[in-house]
Parts: sequence; structure tokens; C-alpha cells
Amino acid sequence: MINLTNGSDMVSHQDPVRDTRGRALHDLRISVTDRCNFRCTYCMPASIFGKDYEYLARDQLLSFEEITRVARAFVGLGVSKIRLTGGEPLLRKGIEDLIGMLAEIPGVDDLTVTTNASLLSRRAERLSAAGLDRVTVSLDSLDDEVFRRMNDVDFPVVDVLEGIEAAESVGLTPIKINCVVIRGVNDHTVVPMAEHFRESGHIVRFIEYMDVGTTNGWRLDDVVPAREIVSLIDTVHPVEPIEPNYVGEVANRYRYADGSGEFGVIASVTQPFCDNCSRVRLSAEGSIYTCLFASQGTDLRQDIRDGSSDAELTELVRGVWSGRTDAYSEHRSNVTFKKRKVEMSYIGG
Ligand code: GTP
Ligand code: 5AD
Ligand code: SF4
Ligand code: SF4
Repeated sequence: MINLTNGSDMVSHQDPVRDTRGRALHDLRISVTDRCNFRCTYCMPASIFGKDYEYLARDQLLSFEEITRVARAFVGLGVSKIRLTGGEPLLRKGIEDLIGMLAEIPGVDDLTVTTNASLLSRRAERLSAAGLDRVTVSLDSLDDEVFRRMNDVDFPVVDVLEGIEAAESVGLTPIKINCVVIRGVNDHTVVPMAEHFRESGHIVRFIEYMDVGTTNGWRLDDVVPAREIVSLIDTVHPVEPIEPNYVGEVANRYRYADGSGEFGVIASVTQPFCDNCSRVRLSAEGSIYTCLFASQGTDLRQDIRDGSSDAELTELVRGVWSGRTDAYSEHRSNVTFKKRKVEMSYIGG
């Protein structure tokens, strides 16, 4: 019999579990589906993710009860932030119910979703009512033609902006905007993007294009280094660096010298941040990954469905984290980027 009790013995915050480099576990990302209605060229290229692509079947997905149970185990080991990802998480039916269940776990201080916002204007109110704290929206350009080309399903910018407005109006704030920058594709739209969100209270984070997965045809030449992104903006609107909000924040923060707001850059390629990496990822089918660039995870679903107790589940997870050595971005090379790695659409951002 599977134990789906409220597991209150697992949620007391003990000292966070630490890995082989002394890195604590703080942040859990849960992928709730491997499907997406976009085909961003850097994430789910249409040539690979076509109509014959085999996505996970319904019974392969963890149920909301199973996800909540795993989340409780992680919270007991130090996790206080939970982010729901995909694919596109709002495609998972009844996601509001899951949000409600996760929001009730004592010790979860920050519950967020990373979404392409295509369904956000219709769902923002229900998401907020369910207990979601805030959203991060993926938007790569405000130039409609560039954005449609990058999402590759002809989705218009204006609908994403509407979603952002809806989220703001129900208090899903602070809103962060993730913008992946690719040379020759959208780097000429970085400055307008920064300008648009400068005084909005929303925080754009420009992300260096990464070699996640094996399908996007990544080349080092396509990466626009964070330093260059900052300099593009600084030339027009002078900026200065500011302190991180918390240890291990992935974005380097900058504020406009005139006091009109801030933005961030996420420099995983040129300035790896593995030293402080406190994130664990749970795939939609119940495997945990301790690195975004891992080729293999550790399956929990079988254990859950075979009737493991809460304590056994916690020990399994503790063992995986304490044996962790990951630091992919510190060792990235012409060899590593060709290795088989899990896809971003499978593991989330
Ligand atoms: P906040 O909680 O709002 O500060 O968000 P976050 O800093 O946890 O960032 P978020 O999850 O929105 O991540 C933004 C992007 O940074 C992701 O989509 C990834 O592209 C990249 N990223 C996040 N975490 C990692 C990581 O552990 N390793 C690498 N290499 N990239 C990461
Ligand atoms: N490099 C950098 N960021 C990526 N994302 C997806 N694929 C990549 C990549 N190859 C980002 C998306 C989204 C989040 C889930 O991950 O922009 O915001
Ligand atoms: Fe979908 Fe996000 Fe991947 Fe784009 S980046 S294909 S929106 S999961
Ligand atoms: Fe963490 Fe792996 Fe990213 Fe390094 S490359 S920061 S270990 S997820």
C-alpha cells in the first residue's frame, strides 16, 4: 500500500542535506509535462518534435499525490523553493489542484511557475487563487516577427504581453521574464526588450543560449556572452552591478543608474555558477536529476508505486544528493556538449 499520509514527520526543516562539494539543497523544479504548444528552435525544434514524437503517456506521469509526496520529502531535506516547469506546465490538466496541494506544505516559501504565457491570461486568476506566488514568463523578443520565428508556431507577442498583464493584475509578482539570446537571431532586440520592461517592475533575465539536450544544434558561436549583453544595454542606458538577492542566485543583477529598475543576465556558459548550485529537478515521470545537463536520472516512481515508505523515499533522495558531484558548466568543452543529455522540455528550465 502506498503511504500517502500528510507525512508531517518529513516537513520539519532539518539541516539541509549537502553534496560532495558542500552544496545545500534549496530549490526543487518539478516538470509536470514534457509537452509544449511552442516549438522554440533552441528547445523543441519542430524537425525533431514533430507529430510522430513520442511523449510520455498519461500513466507514466506522476499523479499530483505522488508529486506532492516527493515534494514533501525534499522539503524535509531543506527545499524551500518550488518551481513548476514543463514543457509548458499550464498544459497539465488541473495544475491548479497541484498548486493548491504544494502550497499547503509547511516550509514552502516560494511557489512559482515558468510558463510561455500562452494560456496565462485565461488562467492567472485561478492560479493565484490556488496559492501560486508568482510567475516567470519566457519571452525572447518583442519584435513580433522575430518572436514568431523563434517559437516556430506563429504565436504573437501581444498575447504573451496580455498574459503578463493578467498575472500582474492578480498579484503573481514579482514577474520575471526569461529571454534566451542567440547571436544573429534576437540579439538586435535585446535593448528594446530591456527598455520595455525597465519601468514596469518586471525583471528581464537575459540567458546565454545553452547546450542543453542534444537536438538544438547548439554551437559556441551562437552564444552571446553575458558581458556583451550588459554592454549593449549599458551603452544606451548606463547600468551598475548589484548584489545578489540570495546566495546561489543564477542571475547576475544590474540596475539602471537613473534608478528606473533592474535586469539580470544568466551566464551559465561564460561564467558557470555550479559552485552554488542548489537545484534538483524532478521529471514528469518521476526521475530526479541533479544537473540540467545530466544524461541519467534516478527513478523514484517505481519505489513510490512499489509502496516505499516516506522515510525510505527521503533516504533515497538524501543518498542521491549527498553523493552528487555535478558541475557540468565548469567542464563544458567540444567533447561534453556532444554527449547525450536530457532535453530541456523533459526536465524543465
Ligand atoms: P528566481 O527564483 O526567480 O531567482 O529564479 P531562478 O534564478 O531560479 O531562475 P529560473 O528558474 O527562472 O532560471 C532561469 C534560467 O536559468 C533557466 O531557464 C535556465 O535556462 C537557467 N538555469 C536555471 N538554473 C540553472 C542551473 O542550475 N544550471 C544552469 N546551467 N542553468 C540554469
Ligand atoms: N538555453 C538557455 N535557456 C533555455 N531555455 C530553454 N532552452 C534553453 C537553452 N537551450 C529556457 C527557456 C525558458 C526556460 C524553461 O528555459 O527560455 O525560459
Ligand atoms: Fe516550450 Fe518553453 Fe521549450 Fe519554448 S522554451 S518550446 S515555450 S518548453
Ligand atoms: Fe547546477 Fe549542473 Fe547548472 Fe552546474 S551545470 S549550475 S551543476 S545544473
